Amino acid sequence: MKLSVIGCGYLGAVHASAMAELGHEVVGIDVDQAKIEQLAAGRPPFFEPGLPEILTSAGASGRLRFSTDMADVAEATVHFVAVGTPQMRDSHAADMRYVDAAIDALIPFLKEGDLVVGKSTVPVGTAARLAQKLADSGSGATLAWNPEFLREGFAVKDTIEPDRLVYGVADERAASILDEVYATALGTGTPRIVTDYATAELVKVSANAFLATKISFINAMAEIAEVTGADVSQLADAIGHDARIGRRFLNAGVGFGGGCLPKDIRAFTARAEELGRGESVAFLKEVDAINLRRRQRVVDLAVEALGGSVYNKRIAVLGVTFKPDSDDVRDSPALDVAVQLKGLGARVVSTDPQGIENARIRHPQLDYAGTADEALAGADLVVLATEWKQFRELDPVRSATLVAGASVIDGRNVLDAAAWRAAGWTYRGMGRP
Ligand code: UGA
Repeated sequence: MKLSVIGCGYLGAVHASAMAELGHEVVGIDVDQAKIEQLAAGRPPFFEPGLPEILTSAGASGRLRFSTDMADVAEATVHFVAVGTPQMRDSHAADMRYVDAAIDALIPFLKEGDLVVGKSTVPVGTAARLAQKLADSGSGATLAWNPEFLREGFAVKDTIEPDRLVYGVADERAASILDEVYATALGTGTPRIVTDYATAELVKVSANAFLATKISFINAMAEIAEVTGADVSQLADAIGHDARIGRRFLNAGVGFGGGCLPKDIRAFTARAEELGRGESVAFLKEVDAINLRRRQRVVDLAVEALGGSVYNKRIAVLGVTFKPDSDDVRDSPALDVAVQLKGLGARVVSTDPQGIENARIRHPQLDYAGTADEALAGADLVVLATEWKQFRELDPVRSATLVAGASVIDGRNVLDAAAWRAAGWTYRGMGRP
């Protein structure tokens, strides 16, 4: 099939490459010239495992092109809209300007029978509004809403082998076009839910709201564990054995960040309030508050570990990204902690395998080290804030020889507390004794 993908960020660049890898002919469009040049040269503008490989192979096949010119979508019959919906600067609502701009720019190039497929995460009601916009345009194109559930770090796998497909459609024809697009995944038995626009939009935001709630639930238990001497990691293992609860997404620590969970729960709350149902998701405000308190908890632990003040103390912060296997620093707990410690007068040195370049753009005032060894050198305190493999596997004995003070805060509860203590470290976890 001939497809276009509007917006080549974390979502769109992966979607375009994966669709070409599956045999479709794809053009990726973005307004950012530099990004398009990099993608066209086979170099992803961000770190995502597996993406360089499919970008290269799909590019070599001749099925994948990138352009800044919307006119290049003219041959495609299915157009995916994958632009961002960030949080508004002055409110919790989602900023819809990029979605609207993409649809407006697309309309002049749409033909009778084309299908526009929304993938961006949007407030419920958006699809109905955009479908009307398409109808009013007289282009003859129709709309489907097909939310995306990919995780950064696993984006290629999640796109090629999704765990479910959700189609929000107004007619059967749109569903059969999407079946053709996703023939490979459907052929392997991937479940497919065909529904209306509102349900499809809500599936996406409720999934992220549920995941955020699960994380804040366990972090709330960590807060209780902290005043009772209980161990939240063991608690998570124990309740996680109940198949109805499940162990995944029950890792207590510095909490969730990124370009999705935090802004999606806020946008959901804002939308529910607009709809007169604010009370239905009022708990998401608590989910957000618990999550932000965990960042403060790490800062408080740092102050405590350094005897009441971090002023002029050297602190190594391991991690700047919001999670491992990504270079994304949007709403990153690790960076937030580093910035807060710096604000209290600490000499913070942050390090990360992939995120330093992005972190430096946002926070040029922080000091960055290229390796964990450099960050640890002479540190009075070590804070593990993002659980990259290389940080999880740090040797406590060797690390102790690098620092000035053998004190560690395990902000992700991933270190072997006993091994670190045995190597002479003062170990502090999150909700662990
Ligand atoms: C999330 C969802 O997991 C995807 O399904 C969704 O498609 C995506 O948002 C999106 O809306 O685009 P992602 O933002 O890549 O994916 O990251 P997650 O793997 O969900 O992690 C989010 C945050 O939660 C990270 O900061 C992570 O460190 C934190 N987390 C995760 C915990 O603190 N504890 C856990 O047990 C799990």
